[in-house]
Amino acid sequence: MVLNSYMPVKLITGRDCVRSSGKELKKLGSRCLIVTGRTAAKSSGALDDVLCALKDNSQEAILFDSIGQNPLLTDCMLAAEKAVSFGADFVIGIGGGSALDAAKCIAVLAANPGMTREQLYAFDWANEPLGIAVVGTTAGTGSEVTKVSVITTPDGRKKSFHHELIFPAVAFGDARYTMSLPERITRSTAVDVLAHCAESFFSRAANHISQLYAVEGIRLLLPVFRGFAEKGYDGITYEEREALYCASIYGGLAINVTGTAFPHTMGYLLTEQFGIPHGTACAVFQKEFFEYNKSVEPSLAERFLAEIGCSEEEYLTLIAEITPDCGVVMTEELVSASHSRWVGNGSIAKCRGEFTADMADGILREKFVR
Ligand SMILES: [Fe+2]
Repeated sequence: MVLNSYMPVKLITGRDCVRSSGKELKKLGSRCLIVTGRTAAKSSGALDDVLCALKDNSQEAILFDSIGQNPLLTDCMLAAEKAVSFGADFVIGIGGGSALDAAKCIAVLAANPGMTREQLYAFDWANEPLGIAVVGTTAGTGSEVTKVSVITTPDGRKKSFHHELIFPAVAFGDARYTMSLPERITRSTAVDVLAHCAESFFSRAANHISQLYAVEGIRLLLPVFRGFAEKGYDGITYEEREALYCASIYGGLAINVTGTAFPHTMGYLLTEQFGIPHGTACAVFQKEFFEYNKSVEPSLAERFLAEIGCSEEEYLTLIAEITPDCGVVMTEELVSASHSRWVGNGSIAKCRGEFTADMADGILREKFVR
């Protein structure tokens, strides 16, 4: 039995955890750059809570609040310059995956002024990143507990880097911050969680610990998905929000061990070319992902369904019901032009059996070419 894993993040969860445990930020330094998107950090109340905690700790802060969806490397570079001129010794990311991933990237860039994109992705880092704290405001990414940052480079490609030095030192998880998320974000981020757990479970790199995380994540999600199917999205309770949030952390813990698989790799294409939100873009491939795994390793697929306590039919129906419509129509030219992306891709290589670039082309054709 293999149990290999490494998770150095101090994770603090529960109602009002930023206010009650804000002193944890003290260990990171005296001056920080706060990194957020344009609205969620403020509207959720998370930014106010962090500012209060920093004030109580007599720590100074400046704000960079221009991180968009699919954070741009150019924005991260601007933020890093701001951090350097302020003399920041740590970074706090507040938001969904975009803000948290950007904070990790900015922590690397700010510690290495003048670093190029090539140096960033080649891990040619002269200095260790600044300290990183994060506060999640969506239940999706799990970036709170991962060593992954996904950034959009100037050529429009989403490109991730993975390094143990970008694990946050502290992560705060308060489901209260997710209460006001609109339906479309709730659905898209929830299916991202499902994608993380399912892709991790079936990964070649999975082990006993990562599969426990993956199964627990889905077991938390399913009752909430069933509730959505029965009563819609209005009146979602705090308990349901908390279950989604905890599931997102389990998903993060799982992919931290294994990484993701072909739905994520192929989902990046839909996000880059059609602006489809990340979770939706990955979720639209989950049916094919399950069926592929069932064909190459039927006993594992059977075990998966038994452990999550769901029939295949219900599992695929729930995913279809909660995944927002993506409405993508693709040309044959785009399918051909994308072929090389699937060749030698690290996440695709982690799929069981032999998932080929031709199979990826076939899935795109079947689903999107009209
Ligand atoms: Fe994801």
